[in-house]
Amino acid sequence: MDDRKLNKEKIPRHIAIIMDGNGRWAKNRALPRIVGHRYGMESVREVVTACRELGVEVLTLYAFSAENWKRPRREIRALMNLLKKYIRAEIDALNRNQIRVHFIGDIDKLPDDVKPLLDEAERTTAGNSGMILNLALSYGGRQEIVRAAARLAEAVVRGKVATSEITEAVFAQYLYTAGQPDPDLLIRTSGEQRVSNFLLWQIGYAELYFTSVLWPDFRRKHLYQALLEYQKRKRRFGLTDEQLREA
Ligand code: IPE
Ligand code: IPE
Ligand code: MG
Repeated sequence: MDDRKLNKEKIPRHIAIIMDGNGRWAKNRALPRIVGHRYGMESVREVVTACRELGVEVLTLYAFSAENWKRPRREIRALMNLLKKYIRAEIDALNRNQIRVHFIGDIDKLPDDVKPLLDEAERTTAGNSGMILNLALSYGGRQEIVRAAARLAEAVVRGKVATSEITEAVFAQYLYTAGQPDPDLLIRTSGEQRVSNFLLWQIGYAELYFTSVLWPDFRRKHLYQALLEYQKRKRRFGLTDEQLREA
């Protein structure tokens, strides 16, 4: 399918994707898991480009979870190398396309040969205003919420915020995604139907879309399918249908 069936007025502002199934894709071909991760980079490229073209404001990709540190060291090392490769290869294209890169997660935990590259990517794309690409690395939703609570507590202790002033909006300013709209659509590939500690606060009202397509097979047409399904959903936000019709 192409994008002609899509309602261009109803494109999600923020799309979040749990890119899952690289290992199974490789296993199906009797290849090492890392080959699946490598092919998954092509899916990343295609989805980033498609989202930018559609006018999505924020795209958040779950690339490495806080829990993924428990994987075999070899696989972690290979993933870190791929990350470096991706950034080096894509930075020019990201800039050309006015995409701003933002890394979310416990970045301090990443290897020392990776961190400077991430800093540089954030710095060189900081002035871009076409789309924000959040790459979640060493990311956990609960960890993010605990970190936000600790940072907010710090602000209270320093007298910068009064306890009585704490609202959802104030709390959200202490998350990695401060200032960004919440995801409207959460996509997970590979058939798993869980959120695996991804953006727990932010997905409170996201539409969930699960597909059995493995991440390395995920292409533009699969994104369009997800968007078509999203556009058919009725987002009630607690209201009745009658209220929605009036609004
Ligand atoms: C997703 O693919 C990528 C990462 C979690 C880094 P997986 O590596 O989880 O692939 P499966 O789930 O084993 O197939
Ligand atoms: C979630 O995938 C994390 C990423 C896609 C980076 P996992 O494959 O690690 O999730 P679980 O362990 O199956 O829940
Ligand atoms: Mg997986």
